[in-house]
Amino acid sequence: MTKLTAKEIVDLNKEYTFFSWSAQGALKPIPVTRAEGVYFWDADGKRYLDFASQLVNQNAGHQHPKIVKAIQDQAAILTFVSPSAATEPRGLLGKKLAEITPGDLKKTFFALGGAEANENAIKIARFYTGRNKILARYRSYHGATHGAIALTGDYRRLPAEPAMPGVVHFLDPYCYRCPFGWTRETCQRECIKHVEEVIQYEGPDQIAAIIMEGVTGTNGLIIPPDDYWPRVREICDKYGILLISDEVMSGWGRTGEWFAVDNWGVVPDIITTAKGITSGYVPLGAVIVREKIAKYFDDHVLSAGLTYNGHALACAAALATIETYEEEKIFENAKKVGKYLGQRLEKLKQKHPSIGDARYIGLFTALELVRNRETKEPLDPTPLKSFLIANGVYVFGFKNVLFIVPPLTITKEQLDEGLTMIDEGLAELMDTQVNGKS
Ligand SMILES: Cc1ncc(COP(=O)(O)O)c(C=O)c1O
Repeated sequence: MTKLTAKEIVDLNKEYTFFSWSAQGALKPIPVTRAEGVYFWDADGKRYLDFASQLVNQNAGHQHPKIVKAIQDQAAILTFVSPSAATEPRGLLGKKLAEITPGDLKKTFFALGGAEANENAIKIARFYTGRNKILARYRSYHGATHGAIALTGDYRRLPAEPAMPGVVHFLDPYCYRCPFGWTRETCQRECIKHVEEVIQYEGPDQIAAIIMEGVTGTNGLIIPPDDYWPRVREICDKYGILLISDEVMSGWGRTGEWFAVDNWGVVPDIITTAKGITSGYVPLGAVIVREKIAKYFDDHVLSAGLTYNGHALACAAALATIETYEEEKIFENAKKVGKYLGQRLEKLKQKHPSIGDARYIGLFTALELVRNRETKEPLDPTPLKSFLIANGVYVFGFKNVLFIVPPLTITKEQLDEGLTMIDEGLAELMDTQVNGKS
C-alpha cells in the first residue's frame, strides 16, 4: 500500500521529476501503485488491462513471482560489484545469450538499456571495421542518447541535431505506403535495390554497419517482406559491412521467436537488445556479437565502459526471465494467441472503414487508422486512446497507428476484453470521421 493519495503522487511527480518527450504542464500521468499479470492498478484502485506491455517490455507479464523471487534472492547475496569483477549471473547469462541468439553470435557487452546498447554496438562496429559511416532507416527509433538519437530516423532526432556525425538514413520497406510508389502486386523490391544504391553513393569502404530494427516498432510496426532481411544480409556480405539488428522491442518472443530476425533465418553480426531481456523488471541492455568480432577484441582494446556493465542483479533478473519464457512456453502462447489476434484484427478491418491497414506478427500488432482508405489520409487516434484508457484499456500509439502489444502471457479471453472496447471506440469515435468511399 502506498502512503500517498493519487493526487499527492501525481503532484510530487510533476513538481519534482521530468517526463519523457513532452511539454510538462498539461501531463496527466496515471499514478500506478501495483501490477500483476496483464493488469495494473492506479492509486484509486482502478484496474487497467495492459495492451501496451508498458513500453513493450513486460513480455512475461507484470510481477511474475519467479522473476521477483530471483531478484529478491540475488539482492540478498550481491546486488552490484565492479564491472571488472566476474560474477556467476553475468557468466551464466552470457552463455545463455550465446545459446539463444542465432548462428555464431557469442559474446555480450552488457549495458543498461536499448540506447546504451546501440551506442556501444556502433563503437564496436567502427573499431572492428575501421570504417566510420553507419546506415539506418528513416522510420526508426534507436534510443535517445546522443549517438542513438542520431541513428533514429524519426522526428525525435531533429531537436537533438547536430548529433553524432556519420549516420546516413535510407527509406523503409513500408508496403502500405511504399516510398517508391508501388503496391504489393507491382513491387520489385525497390526498397532493397535502394539500400545498395545508397551504399554506392556513400562509399562502400566507408560504411561500418547497417542498423535496422528486426521489425520496426514504434514507427508504425513495419514488417518487411520475407526476402528483405536475407537480401540485405547478402548486400552487407558483398561490401564487408556489418549488419546490426536492433531487437530492443522486436526481441524476446514479441514476434513469436527469440528475435525477429529468426523469422527469416538471418544471422546478423551484432544484435542489440534490452526491454524483454528482463521483462523490464530491472534495467539491462546487451550487445551480442559474432565470434569473429569477439576474437578481434582479444588483442585490441575494447574502448567502452559503463559502471553498470554486467550488473549482478540485472543479470540474475534476465536469467530468471529467460527461464520463465522457456518453462512456461510463453513464446508459443505469443504465436497461438497472436494468430487469433491477427484474425480478430482482420475482422475489425472489414467492419471499420477507419482501419486502413492491420499489421501483425506474433503479439506485435497494430492498426493504422485513416480518414479515407483511398487517399490513406491519416486519422489521429487520440480520441480512441483517451476512450480506451478511460475504460481501463491501456494502449499506446504513434501518430495514426494504434498498437496492441500485450504481455505475451495474455489469454484469448483477456484479449477479447480489450478488443471489445476497441471495437466500440472505433465505431463511435473513428468511423464517424471517415470521409469519401471506403
Ligand atoms: C527498437 C528500439 N531501440 C532502442 C530503444 C531505446 O531503448 P531504451 O529506451 O531502453 O534506451 C527502443 C525504445 O523503445 C526501441 O524501441
